[in-house]
Amino acid sequence: MEPLRDADLASAFDHASRTYDVMTSASPGYGAHLRRSARRLGLPDGGAGLSLLDLGCGTGTSTAALLATAPLATVTGVDASAGMLARARRKSWPDRVRFVQAPVEHLGTIEADGPYDAVFAAYLLRNVADPDAVLRTVHRLLQPGGRVSIHEYTLSGRPENRLLWAAVMNGLVRPWARLNRDAALYRHLYRSVLDFDTADVFAARLRRAGFTRVRCLPQPGWQTGITHTFVAARP
Ligand SMILES: C[S@@+](CC[C@H](N)C(=O)[O-])C[C@H]1O[C@@H](n2cnc3c(N)ncnc32)[C@H](O)[C@@H]1O
Repeated sequence: MEPLRDADLASAFDHASRTYDVMTSASPGYGAHLRRSARRLGLPDGGAGLSLLDLGCGTGTSTAALLATAPLATVTGVDASAGMLARARRKSWPDRVRFVQAPVEHLGTIEADGPYDAVFAAYLLRNVADPDAVLRTVHRLLQPGGRVSIHEYTLSGRPENRLLWAAVMNGLVRPWARLNRDAALYRHLYRSVLDFDTADVFAARLRRAGFTRVRCLPQPGWQTGITHTFVAARP
């Protein structure tokens, strides 16, 4: 089965948006892990005067993580799914936060065109058809010296991490998703993680896109060896 992409993926997220926050709040450490990845941007002065981009912001959990580390920043959240963004917009945000509906592939031609001091992308890159092209665009949208934090399921390459991923997905997540008629999206989640870059391959991808000071940092708990934060800079 082909991975879900573009309009099909946006439509699957539209449907799943109804239960997305319930699902993620039941996932141990979901918010804390995002906040750790946002903190790893090392933004100074509470983000005062900085302009930040949250790519694939979904229902805004990653946007909230950015604001937790940079409460004074201006933040633009971009997502292709109208349903996910509707949930995000319903939450309470400072005036300096705005949401734009667009595929990240259209960055460079939409109103969210920066330049930005930092970009955060959580659980996005694995979903796009051409991650290299998206990374090159992110690089272009950053100020020189600007930073990126990419929070992504990227397996370590060790068999025990693949096995744990399969056990969590097949034992817990996919049965629950079937009850909510989101089976296709969560099958996509399961397969896309197994098929996507391992952590070292993704770090190399960032270097190829022109990023420097690339670091791959682990997440704690059951996600060790399954989810990483990649921090890097535009020279
Ligand atoms: C797994 S959710 C993560 C949401 C949020 N970042 C979080 O951490 O909770 C992935 C989000 O990426 C969005 N997305 C996937 N592919 C996209 C694309 N090509 N352009 C824009 N958004 C995309 C989906 O609509 C979805 O809201």
